[in-house]
Amino acid sequence: MLVGRSPVWQIFRQLFFHMRNLILLGGGGHARSVIDVIESASDYRIQGIIDRKERVGHRVLNYSIVDSDENIEKWVQSDQDFLITVGQIESTAVRTRLDKQLSEAKGRLATLTSPLARVSLYATVGEGAVVMHFALVNANAQVGRNVIINTRATVEHDAIVGDFSHISTGAILNGGVAVGQQVFIGSHATIQQGIVVADNVIIGAHTYVNQDITEPGVYVGVPARRLR
Ligand SMILES: CC(C)(COP(=O)(O)OP(=O)(O)OC[C@H]1O[C@@H](n2cnc3c(N)ncnc32)[C@H](O)[C@@H]1OP(=O)(O)O)[C@@H](O)C(=O)NCCC(=O)NCCS
Repeated sequence: MLVGRSPVWQIFRQLFFHMRNLILLGGGGHARSVIDVIESASDYRIQGIIDRKERVGHRVLNYSIVDSDENIEKWVQSDQDFLITVGQIESTAVRTRLDKQLSEAKGRLATLTSPLARVSLYATVGEGAVVMHFALVNANAQVGRNVIINTRATVEHDAIVGDFSHISTGAILNGGVAVGQQVFIGSHATIQQGIVVADNVIIGAHTYVNQDITEPGVYVGVPARRLR
């Protein structure tokens, strides 16, 4: 994949593909992974990153933090699409705040799928969602607004992922699983087919969920037990 990362490829893709301008909201670790997805596709050209005021002027890979999140509205007026690239494990507070700010300013959310991922033609993916490298979203699956389907995650047929949820690296939602809103499914967790997971639940890494989870909380283990 040397070509995909080379400056020559970056110039080529900007010259020969019709690309939309994109501003990233958040310049941490998740943003670095998302940048790799953006650079391997041909849909968007990153114009800059918006982050906290004290980080303005810093660099994230090849891109600058150009402004603070108080000024999102100003960037909406300059015909950009936006992607929320703040990560999410314990709390969705920052991601939901940025989404609210963006909605109020009437900003446009991008939707991003890695060319190395597979999204079935029979699946739907909401605004602001990202499907990272080697992920699979299978037939009839529904992925909500601002969801992260992280690297190598699997969302099997007929599964549902609610808004602002994060299916993290290598996690597996089997057929017909329904995950609520603002849920975090830890790395390599597996959810048995047909299981329902309520809103605001955190599932620990490597957990196996074989019963519906109806209460918000943190669940870990094989099979899953409530931690708190
Ligand atoms: C579930 C999680 C959030 C809990 O974190 P925490 O509240 O700091 O929990 P602690 O590390 O204090 O552990 C508390 C107890 O739960 C157990 N535990 C924590 N996570 C566990 C897991 N994933 N599976 C099994 N047991 C787990 C610990 O062994 C400990 O047990 P003990 O009380 O018997 O010693 C965290 O362990 C986790 O799994 N995070 C997700 C990491 C991940 O997937 N990152 C991907 C980023 S893309």
